[in-house]
Amino acid sequence: MELKDYRRQYTKGGLREESMPDDPLVLFEQWQQDASAAGLADPTGVVVATVQPDGSIRQRFVLLKGVSEDGFVFFTNYNSDKAAALAQNDRSSMLFPWNELDRQVSVSGKVEKIAESESDAYFAARPRASQIAAWTSQQSQPIASRGALEAQYQATLERFDGGDVPRPPHWGGFRLVPERIEFWQGGEDRLHDRLIYQYANGWNRSRLQP
Ligand SMILES: Cc1cc2nc3c(=O)[nH]c(=O)nc-3n(C[C@H](O)[C@H](O)[C@H](O)COP(=O)(O)O)c2cc1C
Repeated sequence: MELKDYRRQYTKGGLREESMPDDPLVLFEQWQQDASAAGLADPTGVVVATVQPDGSIRQRFVLLKGVSEDGFVFFTNYNSDKAAALAQNDRSSMLFPWNELDRQVSVSGKVEKIAESESDAYFAARPRASQIAAWTSQQSQPIASRGALEAQYQATLERFDGGDVPRPPHWGGFRLVPERIEFWQGGEDRLHDRLIYQYANGWNRSRLQP
């Protein structure tokens, strides 16, 4: 089949104002549970966009590790490309691609570092191999070869010699504090539903044409 011939109907249900909560986080948590129940490979996977110092845009997948009224939390390397971008411009957007449910959620707002104690607690709960990897990888920096990366990993293993692995100071969480959250649910004949929540002294809801 050619690319232009791929199309399908979106039939999994609609969004009606009368059944929408006033608080978008309530709806998000419901949709996150639906994504988990649907057996997706990465139900918590989300694309994070940043504005680079030169004004260009970059996106990458991360795993959402927490959500609350305060925002959406993911963990990464504070020396990475995305962290360098966020240090200069704290605006970001996250896209949850829940296509199997005919859904997407798009969140935008400002990003802040989470408290060190929160990063410590999450790091301590990670598998040891992931803890070692956090020390090993200078994320987003070039490296000469795969072999060089594996040698760095071995050196880190020897350094910690079977003992506890503390959180690297350059590794921790970011929280996107939402200002706008859009819920999209596919509809038949391309009459999709788009409900937008915008924050201004409380959440205000509106509907956009598809
Ligand atoms: C399924 C999946 C999950 C990922 N989860 C994370 C994550 O939670 N944190 C992270 O820093 N990178 C994660 N990555 C790798 C990022 O996409 C990216 O390659 C890395 O963070 C470096 O991005 P940067 O150079 O733009 O900073 C994940 C990639 C995939 C495909």
